Amino acid sequence: MDRPVEKPHEAIAAILADDLTAVNALIRERMASRHAPRIPEVTAHLVEAGGKRIRPMLTLAAARLCGYDGPYHVHLAATVEFIHTATLLHDDVVDESSQRRGKPTANLLWDNKSSVLVGDYLFARAFQLMVEPANLRVLEILSNAAATIAEGEVLQLTAAQDLATTEDIYLQVIRGKTAALFSAATEAGAEIARADAGQVKALFDYGDALGIAFQMADDLLDWQGDADVTGKNIGDDFRERKLTLPLIRAIAAADDEERAFWRRTIEKGKQTEGDLAIARDLLDRHGALTSTRDTALDWAAQAKASLADLPDHRLTGLLSDLADYVVARLR
Ligand code: IPE
Ligand code: IPE
Ligand code: MG
Ligand code: MG
Repeated sequence: MDRPVEKPHEAIAAILADDLTAVNALIRERMASRHAPRIPEVTAHLVEAGGKRIRPMLTLAAARLCGYDGPYHVHLAATVEFIHTATLLHDDVVDESSQRRGKPTANLLWDNKSSVLVGDYLFARAFQLMVEPANLRVLEILSNAAATIAEGEVLQLTAAQDLATTEDIYLQVIRGKTAALFSAATEAGAEIARADAGQVKALFDYGDALGIAFQMADDLLDWQGDADVTGKNIGDDFRERKLTLPLIRAIAAADDEERAFWRRTIEKGKQTEGDLAIARDLLDRHGALTSTRDTALDWAAQAKASLADLPDHRLTGLLSDLADYVVARLR
């Protein structure tokens, strides 16, 4: 029977407990600021709200399973979480979101200016951290990821509201805005451990496919999730007129009347009460939610397949479970 996987990130966290404690201590230390009190206010709010710490765990796990025994995987893991947190601060401004990690967003509690500037600060802190291991290859991986994420978010901005957005463009967007940090997280972990080229590539491929599956799941949950579980509002993407995979597929299958509905709500942005429910029904009618789930499952399977030649380590098995888990939340 297809039993839903127990939370593998919690099992990974248990194995890496000491490393994660060190990462959290480093995050707390480096998110402080003696000169601008608004910074610790905003960063403390975010850290207290939690977050699953998936990306830093990926870095730690990759380094450990490749046999790393030094101290710098902790700096890289903290770097990755800082980049993630900075992008979330900026993303919630851009998306005008009001809920994150089950709490009001920083843009709501303070303002857009604070979110943008504290996000910039966290980016800068990430760059300071990534230099510390003095490993040029790792620096290249993480700085490239920061640029690629920003590119993905900007590409998404221009693809939004555009009914002609293709699945290829969607894939490019999510590979940039989300998967790039997952793959950088795993690749940097392998690289700091001086793993051989085959292992570095395998971990990069795993992170890339996992990140894509993760974002597809997130995009599906934006349509059919439960805000109590995701900690974020449902229907934000429709209101933001974001062309995610379920919507792209429903639009591709639309008849004339449906196209008129999409033109009004997505292209022109004229939405009224009840449109979200109608949109959801249209997605259902064309099987767009089910087919997106299937595509996410395919990417999760691809992530697992990438792990085939990695060392036989219990963390390798848990990374495989993690790929199942990110799509298991779709049932
Ligand atoms: C949220 O990522 C942003 C996306 C890529 C969808 P997470 O779900 O990993 O966020 P936290 O850190 O656990 O809140
Ligand atoms: C992911 O995009 C955010 C980044 C990777 C920067 P979304 O806009 O879909 O993420 P949520 O839904 O706000 O977490
Ligand atoms: Mg968002
Ligand atoms: Mg989303």
